[in-house]
Amino acid sequence: MAMTKKTSGKPKGGVKKPQAKPAKRDAASKKAPAKKVAKPAPKKAPQKEQQPKPVVAPRVRGVPQVLRGMKDVLPQEQRYWRSIKMAADELARAYGFEMIETPILEETSLFARSAGTQTDVVEKEMFSFIDKGGSNVTLRPEGTAPAVRAYIIHGMLNLPQPVKLYYIGPMFRHERPQHGRYRQHYQFGVEVFGDDNPVLDAEIIMLAHLFYKEIGVKSVVRINSLGCNDCRPAYREQLVNYFRMKRAQLCEDCKRRLAKNPLRLLDCKEEGCAALKEGAPQIVDSLDEKCKDHLMRVLEYLDDLQVPYALDPHLVRGFDYYTRTVFELVPEEGDGAQVALGGGGRYDSLVEQMGGRPTPACGFGLGLERAILQMKAQEIEPQPEKGPDVFVAQLGDSARRKAFVLFEDLRGAGIKLAGNFTKNSLKGQLETANRLGARYTAILGQQEVLDETVLIRDMESGMQEIVDYKKAVNALKKKLENG
Ligand code: HAM
Repeated sequence: MAMTKKTSGKPKGGVKKPQAKPAKRDAASKKAPAKKVAKPAPKKAPQKEQQPKPVVAPRVRGVPQVLRGMKDVLPQEQRYWRSIKMAADELARAYGFEMIETPILEETSLFARSAGTQTDVVEKEMFSFIDKGGSNVTLRPEGTAPAVRAYIIHGMLNLPQPVKLYYIGPMFRHERPQHGRYRQHYQFGVEVFGDDNPVLDAEIIMLAHLFYKEIGVKSVVRINSLGCNDCRPAYREQLVNYFRMKRAQLCEDCKRRLAKNPLRLLDCKEEGCAALKEGAPQIVDSLDEKCKDHLMRVLEYLDDLQVPYALDPHLVRGFDYYTRTVFELVPEEGDGAQVALGGGGRYDSLVEQMGGRPTPACGFGLGLERAILQMKAQEIEPQPEKGPDVFVAQLGDSARRKAFVLFEDLRGAGIKLAGNFTKNSLKGQLETANRLGARYTAILGQQEVLDETVLIRDMESGMQEIVDYKKAVNALKKKLENG
């Protein structure tokens, strides 16, 4: 039954259907099966070149445009997304985190109560609206508050602690769009509940650093401590005294913040205010013994884990819920040092503040668009993806129908597939199979339909073999098992 034919690995000028037939009718090869002499593997174009170039379409009049600060993720971008989502998923699971998915829409009060009403996110950036039922709702700007809500309402306090959760999903902030800043962005986030051991702070910082290492991006950690509810008030007073002297130079928002939430002054992005913070008192000098010890132990663990970090005494982060450790990750190289690749910290009072029992917690959120921007800036290719095991090609109407059935039989057998049921050129289909990196192509032409056979082409060696249609699935399975 099985006959072989050595043909070129790369379809030159197209493997036309008549070429497939002689393989079966070659009397010599029937008597003594031809030696399977593999031709050198056709050199595949590097992954980068295989990607079709994105077409920049002109703005079409009358067609609704994508909203400002939001974007479509097109097929040619997906390999980056698949690669980084897989890295996040594998890493989180390896470190004992379990996935949680929370709704994109939440009650507005969830974020106002957790992040703090004086924060930029809550004051200016939330996509909030009154829904048809009259509820005040918000597209989630971040993932920590929903995770805290879920921890409380699902009684996760009764599970063995710490409870380690992770999520990958979109967040929405009405910010001024710019490079690396969007109104819809994706975060890979982790949240750990129920343990205040500094080793957990170090573990999540290492995890964030490791995520970037896994995708090929070198990052550095900036770290600070915001102390606790006991030692922070004294620092707040020092800060107020410092900024009060400079009140005239502050932006209008900061003038208000000075009275209500002075720590936020350190987070202001206005040029004038940002310059003033350089001379501001540093919180590390006001930490009580417990908070100081906590920070020292986190740093020691980071030293042990060889995670590069720098103390940043003015780092406060954009939310009010943080206590003790806060950190951000920035790229080690390039001019992107101002763009945080991610950030997080401890929030030991938030669960209680949101109505739960006192529960220490910590976590991070990493910006996935920024991860991809870094990969591109540093010309880092995503993990190469395994091509399909089998490409199903067909020629002619009756062959197409049989090919449909074969495709489904192969899929049922767990074989990774690709195929095309609309093209009428075998050359084109083999080129596609080659581009996708298929190991075999199962070809069904009119002759194969008449003979009840399938022509199987080894895409690397170019050898072709005719097999019984009914035995095609098993034959391909065997080939794949044998490597
Ligand atoms: P965040 O620093 O606001 O923290 O956001 C985390 C990361 O998301 C940022 O460092 C950045 O990489 C990315 N990101 C934020 N906004 C944008 C944007 N507009 N466009 C693109 N990327 C953006 C949080 O959201 C906290 N919930 C993190 C956390 C978790 N803390 C404790 N647990």
